[in-house]
Amino acid sequence: MNNKNGISFPSTRMRRTRRTDAIRRLVEETTLSASDLIYPVFLLNGKNKCTPIQSMPGINRQSIDGVLKTAEQILKLNIPAMALFPVIEEHEKSLTGDEAYNPNGLIQQSIRKLKTEFPELIIISDVALDPYTTHGQDGVIDANNYVINDVTVDTLTKQAISQAEAGADIIAPSDMMDGRIGSIRNALEANNFHNTLILSYAAKYASSFYGPFRDAVGSKNNLATGNKFNYQMNPANALESLREVELDISEGADIVMIKPAMPYLDIINKINQKFSVPVFAYQVSGEYAMLKSASEAGYLNHKESTLESIMSIKRAGASAILTYYAIDVARWLQP
Ligand code: PBG
Repeated sequence: MNNKNGISFPSTRMRRTRRTDAIRRLVEETTLSASDLIYPVFLLNGKNKCTPIQSMPGINRQSIDGVLKTAEQILKLNIPAMALFPVIEEHEKSLTGDEAYNPNGLIQQSIRKLKTEFPELIIISDVALDPYTTHGQDGVIDANNYVINDVTVDTLTKQAISQAEAGADIIAPSDMMDGRIGSIRNALEANNFHNTLILSYAAKYASSFYGPFRDAVGSKNNLATGNKFNYQMNPANALESLREVELDISEGADIVMIKPAMPYLDIINKINQKFSVPVFAYQVSGEYAMLKSASEAGYLNHKESTLESIMSIKRAGASAILTYYAIDVARWLQP
């Protein structure tokens, strides 16, 4: 009964290792744990504020008091890290987004409070200007709405330093400007932040799956009919992501991020195979919204489809996953 590869049936029956739960567990190649998860939160100014995000059912924007409670909760669940995204009030936004490096800005103050109460919690802070600009672009624009690269990098570098000064463990530039990793790394070294990590959003695609996030941070109306096609990557390209990652590593990135996750599993896999830096992936707001709304409509089993989606991201090669599902997943994984 040899087939053309010389492998015979019935000596080979693939179903033997699938027969019982115990044997399936023994041969499992990928395991998911709370230690693989990063929880993103949306921060509001003020006190006792909590507003739901309509396009992300179950996720709220919160003022720092609520975020401190969330921090305690995720640490109890063994989730090691939180990623912070600010909701900036309109009157604090400007053409050039200079509020981004205010040492007493919303993010900087929140980092200080979180690190004082929970020094062991890893704080990942986002570097990009879109929450701070009146036009919703990630950088400073010229008269034709083109984001000016090098001017933007200067502001991003100030933003990164202000976050490191506040105590951020990981600086995460999500803006896709050229040369920003090198500039931020040099500034961190020059300011004695030798151990501050850089998680570079190296391959960030110009994706339509960011829609709910733009609702959440309030940049959607600012961006209006604008788009980010001249700095975020074209979803059609894979080879280009290898160049992006190579450059960011050479400029000083410690970890690289691929974003979104599920539509880009091939990219996660390629980068994991080719480079030896840790790869993180971001299961973005639109991925969350899809799973959540289909589950709420009864079209998908919520727990099973979500765990499968996150497992697939890990299997593709991500060592950690940013996901709005982090708390649910950590709970589901508890014995
Ligand atoms: C922008 C930024 C975006 C996200 C994180 N940082 C959106 C964008 O590029 O417009 C999206 C995250 C998500 O969709 O969950 N710097």
